[in-house]
Amino acid sequence: MEAALTLDSIDCSYGEVQVLHGLSLELRRGEVHCLLGRNGAGKTTALKAIMGLVPVRAGRIMKRELRISRLEAYEVPKTGIGYVPQGRRLFTDLTVAENLEIGLMTRGKGRDTLERVLGLFPVLRERLRQRSGTLSGGEQQMLAMARALCLEPDVLLLDEPTEGLMPSMIARIREVVAALRERGVSTLLVEQRVEAVLPVADRVSFIENGRNRQTVEVEHLRSDPQMVHRYVGVG
Ligand SMILES: Nc1ncnc2c1ncn2[C@@H]1O[C@H](COP(=O)(O)OP(=O)(O)OP(=O)(O)O)[C@@H](O)[C@H]1O
Ligand SMILES: [Mg+2]
Repeated sequence: MEAALTLDSIDCSYGEVQVLHGLSLELRRGEVHCLLGRNGAGKTTALKAIMGLVPVRAGRIMKRELRISRLEAYEVPKTGIGYVPQGRRLFTDLTVAENLEIGLMTRGKGRDTLERVLGLFPVLRERLRQRSGTLSGGEQQMLAMARALCLEPDVLLLDEPTEGLMPSMIARIREVVAALRERGVSTLLVEQRVEAVLPVADRVSFIENGRNRQTVEVEHLRSDPQMVHRYVGVG
């Protein structure tokens, strides 16, 4: 199967401290691929490396034929990669509509795109004029995802999108990820809790000390729960 995104043995550091050590990962077209690992394993750093937000010291990141690890950070989203950072990072002083507009502008998308995105998150339609800092935590997460989708990405990176959300919001996010998958979007999903992952994932990679220890089909995890213990500690 053709890869949507390939991390080929990448090294990343913060100053002198190396955090990713030859991390390799293949995101297949149309799959939901989860990164699991303990706090500090390097999951967020891997997503930042893809977005050009931390330099890739060795190895390379390819989006099909395009070597995106050579691009500037502002160029990466224009290649069709939507990113929802850990902790959301909205422009809290801007309204919902203005946040979405920033997403649309990134790749020159217009009304049709906005309508499609609001169709996925009807709650936002009622709140277009509201300052995004005053949205609830769950609504802010919806907005962060909606903004990423305003790029019409073919690759989506989600960093712990369900953190701190109530079950109904978690379910909604899962539904959206599944709906995007139907449309052929490839998603790289960081989660801490395996139970949040099992219902949506196709494959899971276990990240430990900045390395990909193992990538397995999700069915494999169901039959071998011990594997989760080994890499994540709690099951
Ligand atoms: N800006 C930074 N400067 C220095 N060190 C950093 C920086 N960001 C992350 N690190 C370090 O890099 C390592 C990997 O961090 P990262 O945020 O990628 O982990 P993570 O797997 O996403 O963890 P979590 O599950 O807690 O979000 C950690 O040891 C962290 O302290
Ligand atoms: Mg993280």
